[in-house]
Amino acid sequence: MLAFSARPLALLAFLALLIAVVNAVHPVKVQGQDFVDTVTGKRVMIIGVDYQPGGQAGYKPQNGEDALTNGTVCLRDAALLQRLGVNTIRVYNVDPTLNHDDCASIFNAVGIYMIIDVNSPLGGESLNRAEPASSYNAGYLSRIFGVVENFKGYPNTLGFFAGNEVMNDVGSSKENPPYIRAIQRDLKNYIAAHSTRTIPVGYSAADVRPILEDTWAYMQCSLTGSISDPTRSDFFGLNSYSWCGADATYQTAGYNDLVTMFANTTLPIFFSEYGCNKPEGVARVFNEVAALYGKDMTGLSGGLVYEYSQEESDYGLVVINGNGTVTLKKDYDNLQGHYNLLDLALLSSTNPSQTTVTPPKCAASLISGSGFSQNFTIPSPPDGADDLIKNGIKDPVNGKLVQVKETNVPMKAYGSNGVEIKGLAIKILPDDQSNAPSNETTSPSGTAAPSPTASKKGAAVRTGTGAWGVFVAVLAAVVVLL
Ligand SMILES: *[C@@H]1O[C@H](CO)[C@@H](O)[C@H](O)[C@H]1NC(C)=O
Ligand SMILES: *[C@@H]1O[C@H](CO)[C@@H](O)[C@H](O)[C@H]1NC(C)=O
Ligand SMILES: *[C@@H]1O[C@H](CO)[C@@H](O)[C@H](O)[C@H]1NC(C)=O
Ligand SMILES: *[C@@H]1O[C@H](CO)[C@@H](O)[C@H](O)[C@H]1NC(C)=O
Ligand SMILES: *[C@@H]1O[C@H](CO)[C@@H](O)[C@H](O)[C@H]1NC(C)=O
Repeated sequence: MLAFSARPLALLAFLALLIAVVNAVHPVKVQGQDFVDTVTGKRVMIIGVDYQPGGQAGYKPQNGEDALTNGTVCLRDAALLQRLGVNTIRVYNVDPTLNHDDCASIFNAVGIYMIIDVNSPLGGESLNRAEPASSYNAGYLSRIFGVVENFKGYPNTLGFFAGNEVMNDVGSSKENPPYIRAIQRDLKNYIAAHSTRTIPVGYSAADVRPILEDTWAYMQCSLTGSISDPTRSDFFGLNSYSWCGADATYQTAGYNDLVTMFANTTLPIFFSEYGCNKPEGVARVFNEVAALYGKDMTGLSGGLVYEYSQEESDYGLVVINGNGTVTLKKDYDNLQGHYNLLDLALLSSTNPSQTTVTPPKCAASLISGSGFSQNFTIPSPPDGADDLIKNGIKDPVNGKLVQVKETNVPMKAYGSNGVEIKGLAIKILPDDQSNAPSNETTSPSGTAAPSPTASKKGAAVRTGTGAWGVFVAVLAAVVVLL
């Protein structure tokens, strides 16, 4: 027993590794037109919110900050998003050289997936739609491969957006499409060479009806006729703002047209942004939620509401106050009310007839002829790209899950009526679950009149000691065995 060989150490390391993934969500893959859980095989419907506190200006790589760098802020927002009932966030701008471990681990612990945009508004960090050829270069690829390196290690990374609204009118749809496919190819080849699991890559389209169907047709087709063509999108996001106000319907919002348009899709389609804010000045009622997740639209994979925090563009579900506290808007309450009515069993049942699909072979005839590119000659990787893809980028910063130790939110949060939300904390989900609506109402009832004695603690909150408890028990067992 004193001969302390390397074997128990290796065993310990192995056990530690097992424990490190105890509270990890199951990765998601694409299967036919659905997202599915890689372990249970069940369909994953996106119930999501776009997450960019501070708006585009919140992306400050020069200060070492982006939306996923401050663990305290993520703890606060993850607690409110978990209670809201979402299972996915989309994050638009991340710096691949920063450490996102705390935030990614917190969102993982509460069962929330992340869809990450690989681009940013800074020069050289996205495709320039006015000059796609010159902006598609090795320096740009280095950046987006860095995002892959940074996020590939998190099991809750659901996918990467290779581009967002690059084509936003007929003019920009002439030259850019082949470049989007080239970027998708390079990302997918990089992932295949440097990630232990496949991570889906797709495109987020503007709802510009003259080019929408062409965009989808162009992105989903296969040059070879096979699903494995790397230039093809794995999924298709649509930024959809056609359902406005309390009186809109499935028909007046044109959701019926979308369902018809995408009836034959061979990849998952979801709203990568939705939640029209007209009429102005009133809380959004979110009646579109019932339609989007209802029987008529099960062919789609859900959507992400634009957006978590109130910014200049006036789409917030919550207001982040200057002192770091958060006040829910009525929009949050209304959205939560609709989420609470969803038929979760319907949403997770996958349609077996859709598990194998053959994408259409790319051809000019798939495109309407209204001006959208019919050019399926995809640009070759720029100089230096093959080396990056083969050997990896220099000095990648690889993220990994870390233990989430703090579950209580240190800042105060207030309901839409101004009443403080007591005992705000994240609930670390056991058994690798993802989050789902839980029929709760986060905004407390009552009014915001000062009532210093009314401080009932929040409902039972599961703390994050589960994994450590197991670790200590296993450690004890191993020591006894030795
Ligand atoms: C869907 O596919 C069927 C059979 O291939 C075809 O008849 C139909 O026109 C297609 N629908 C759309 C909207 O493209
Ligand atoms: C923080 O700011 C908000 C909005 O100005 C205010 O309502 C709230 O009382 C402040 N909370 C704390 C703890 O300072
Ligand atoms: C994280 O955000 C909180 C709240 O805004 C702030 O007080 C804190 O200083 C930030 N932490 C870091 C490391 O920037
Ligand atoms: C098609 O796009 C490629 C770049 O991907 C370009 O070299 C070629 O000239 C384009 N063909 C036409 C007919 O525009
Ligand atoms: C949800 O909560 C409401 C009351 O807030 C209750 O009437 C309803 O039965 C609950 N539904 C479920 C599925 O628990």
